[in-house]
Amino acid sequence: MKLNPLAQSLNQTLEGSVAYRLLSDLGKRMFFPRGVAAQSMEAKEKAHRFDATVGIANVERGKPIILEEIHRWVPELSPAEIVSYAPTPGDPELRKLWQQEILRKNPDVPPDRISLPMVTSGLTGALSQVADLFVNPHDHVLVSDFFWGNYRLLFEGRREARLVTYPLFTEEGSLDLEALERTIRDIPAKKAVLVLNFPNNPTGYTPTVDEARAMAGLLARCAEEKDLLVVCDDAYFGLFYEEGIYPHSLFNLLATAHPNLLAVKVDGPTKELYVWGFRIGFLTFGSPVLTAGQFDALNQKLAGSLRATVSNSNRLAQSLLKRALTSAHTPSELAKWADLLKARYRKTRQILSRMGDDVPLVPQPFNSGYFMCFKTRGIDAEALRQALLEKGIGTISLGRDVLRVTFASIPEEHLEELFSEIFETARSLA
Ligand SMILES: Cc1ncc(COP(=O)(O)O)c(C=O)c1O
Repeated sequence: MKLNPLAQSLNQTLEGSVAYRLLSDLGKRMFFPRGVAAQSMEAKEKAHRFDATVGIANVERGKPIILEEIHRWVPELSPAEIVSYAPTPGDPELRKLWQQEILRKNPDVPPDRISLPMVTSGLTGALSQVADLFVNPHDHVLVSDFFWGNYRLLFEGRREARLVTYPLFTEEGSLDLEALERTIRDIPAKKAVLVLNFPNNPTGYTPTVDEARAMAGLLARCAEEKDLLVVCDDAYFGLFYEEGIYPHSLFNLLATAHPNLLAVKVDGPTKELYVWGFRIGFLTFGSPVLTAGQFDALNQKLAGSLRATVSNSNRLAQSLLKRALTSAHTPSELAKWADLLKARYRKTRQILSRMGDDVPLVPQPFNSGYFMCFKTRGIDAEALRQALLEKGIGTISLGRDVLRVTFASIPEEHLEELFSEIFETARSLA
């Protein structure tokens, strides 16, 4: 198939880099057309007389029609902030603000080593874009044996990748870094995609400082042999409950780890700012060698892919997020809610420390995030879930022997009752 000249030109910009080698066939075909979206972006800057580009009905220039029955619920925002289309790559101010956030939270990342974040429809939207742009059928996508189930649908279901799992933990309960290295080296291809998710869903585990450094080191070693796309899914970033946990994203180390390693940060306000239904996420590239032009070429490809799927992301949500991110009150509010979740974590730990040996459940390591997991001993996790449901208690079973509990969603005063029901029910099934 003949490539569009704009796609060819982006590919030429990327040629010779790890990004080009990692692109999927679909990724190679992508470009941002010089159609309505691009032309209206140009007009925003230059059409100072009349802007007759985009399909928005205006009362007057820059002032879209808005129903009073909508505006009255968010009266402090302008009509444009509520109902106008956002640019395909996202609101430029929001993108800049989020980039500053990434740099603040990841102080070892040199500012010129990352791209300007692109706005996506939630983190799921960002992951889906990564899968489209970088995963071909039969490519190997590595995830730990505790992984967010949607990865299977995203990478295997939609993109026909081979999902390869490696054990997250050793018997002793630390990260099994040897298994990770072995699994990458055993991939019979020059390319591998690795998805890292910390704080982890479902386990609630985040690496220690030593583990994070060791992991970055081993990935840099593996990149000597293979091109690596390492996706950092940072959905639960910031909810760290113990001393000694690595307090940054792995992206902090991976963005500059090796020329053959392209790091992709997938993050967003969904959990970090408690806006689950806003459907806003961000996708940011990091590399020690890509030029500004190459980062831009990747973003152009991503913009094309966004244009062809969701076109652009929720405007109202982006406007509200800009306000929140620039408000002096936000940090203290965030700290308040983080404290509440930490108290639930502490309570959960306390309850587990008193768990009797007769309970056929083994808590897995956890120190962060929303969740904790039990491995079941000799009882079926789905049977346990069903039995709990009979008692009016909802949990998640994963495979035959893992039960996930979202302690973050249960008020502290109810945790005792919740866990004693779980223990009691597990005992009754043994
Ligand atoms: C690990 C992980 N990644 C991504 C997501 C998706 O986030 P979003 O709701 O922004 O699509 C979730 C949501 O539960 C998650 O647990």
